[in-house]
Amino acid sequence: MNLRGFLSERVGDAFRAAGVADPEPMLRPAARPEFGDYQANGAMAAAKRLRTNPRALATAVAEAFTDADPDIAEQVEVAGPGFVNITLSGAFLSERLGNVEIERTGRPDRVVLDYSSPNLAKEMHVGHLRTTIGDAMARILDALGHEVIRQNHVGDWGTQFGMLVAHLEDRQEHAAELKDLEVFYAEARKRFDADTDFADRARRTVVDLQRGDEVVRGYWRRFIDISLSHCRAVYDTLGITLTDDDLDAESRYNDALPKVVEDLDQAGLLTESDGAKCVFLEEFDAPVIVQKRDGGYLYATSDLAAARLRTDHYRADRVLYFTDARQSLHFRQFFAVARKAGFVAEACSLEHHPFGAILGEDSRPFKTRTGGVVKLADLLDEAVQRARALVAEKNPDLTGAEADRVARAVGIGAVKYADLSKNRTSDYVFDWDTMLSFDGNTAPYLQYAYARIQSIFRRAGVSPERLEAAPAVVEPEERRLAVLLLRFQETLEQVASEALPHLLCTYLYELASRFMRFYEACPVLDAPGGLRESRLKLCALTAETLHRGLDLLGIETVERM
Ligand code: ARG
Repeated sequence: MNLRGFLSERVGDAFRAAGVADPEPMLRPAARPEFGDYQANGAMAAAKRLRTNPRALATAVAEAFTDADPDIAEQVEVAGPGFVNITLSGAFLSERLGNVEIERTGRPDRVVLDYSSPNLAKEMHVGHLRTTIGDAMARILDALGHEVIRQNHVGDWGTQFGMLVAHLEDRQEHAAELKDLEVFYAEARKRFDADTDFADRARRTVVDLQRGDEVVRGYWRRFIDISLSHCRAVYDTLGITLTDDDLDAESRYNDALPKVVEDLDQAGLLTESDGAKCVFLEEFDAPVIVQKRDGGYLYATSDLAAARLRTDHYRADRVLYFTDARQSLHFRQFFAVARKAGFVAEACSLEHHPFGAILGEDSRPFKTRTGGVVKLADLLDEAVQRARALVAEKNPDLTGAEADRVARAVGIGAVKYADLSKNRTSDYVFDWDTMLSFDGNTAPYLQYAYARIQSIFRRAGVSPERLEAAPAVVEPEERRLAVLLLRFQETLEQVASEALPHLLCTYLYELASRFMRFYEACPVLDAPGGLRESRLKLCALTAETLHRGLDLLGIETVERM
């Protein structure tokens, strides 16, 4: 059990021993070192209920806590109006550091994660960088022992594809033009707007496509394949774990859509408005349109079909959707419709986890200098180039393949980390200098901390795996580092339940900073025998935690930089 959970139970027992039948101890990591390591604030509320003095109750809780096991804490102190501040003992910390494996849950959830999900009509743009959020969540849930099902709900259906396929039919001998989907799309669009014959043909092509016309399907397939190969290249560079097996394209639901509409009708939820089939719900002003007047289906219709599959077939306990915040209303509405229609099991939790936009320095959507969309592939190339120059300047000893590897790890890591470290829900400004800085809450700072520990081991002539004994925890900076190392598990669990990977970033940043302070305060290489081993063990545990944490964020570490 994670440290916080373990202590919460002990504190709960202490409350009961102090006469509180149904305690809610609310244990939190202490906000300041003088408050100990953890702080319990339940005495105030409990005293109010029992009409007793909160400080007296807190004192009884503190005593009961120590009586039950005098070895856990070095100090249990009552502070302020009735806080119980717990400072853990070195012996207890040392013992717990003997096992820091990530603990897999005994009650795994089956979790579907719908993320990335680009529209295949165009190339992935800077906004798709936020794919990293869903991917980090998938890695973390998986590491905690949950059953993870990734779904890349790519947009490969709908009117735009009629236009693109019709254009491809005319340009088939120029398939090379598809190297740049943006240009191809712009050309098709231009023809569509200017040429009514072409526009009519594009519309007919959509109908043919949906009817399953073989020739049209052939062209469509070709377009989709090329577009997907662009995505694969980006996933590969970015270290995104999505594969072709995770594809859950909108077209997959084509045949299920009539049934969705029929079942909504059966459930008495359908209203016709202007020839379109709609679901009106009291809690929303606008209806959800599920079928247009011309018979075409919509984004929400596929999402209803997909949600059904995810609970009926995949039997998900949770379905997590990661998209731009601008889609929030869509998700609230279709979740509500899916529930009303009984398309999803009641116990299944449908969660939309929106994210903010990526902005330029002018605080407007991030664009190229000429005002165009920033292709994600180009952005990642630039990241690696910038990192290469930076690494060459910081460490001219790195050359050849190693320099390339470091540049890639640092460049891609910096861009991903900049995205992941911000609270998901807020917009942020994309800034090269900040994200590539070796100071502050950045990937290079963490990667550097990791590499620095590796160099300590090289100098010590010791391999970290050889250090088996748990470290002794004595000095204040050893204690602080130890407590933080032990908070890794609870951090991961919190990220998993709240879908907020930035909490892991904050944790890792704190850990690296704590380590630096420990290293300044406590000599390692010059310490005598046993102490040297013990401190080297703290170094090893820190490096391992940094490595695991970064890996769960999909960020690489390097041995030197
Ligand atoms: N393809 C959509 C877009 O680019 C995102 C899909 C998100 N997932 C979903 N199930 N609606 O906006």
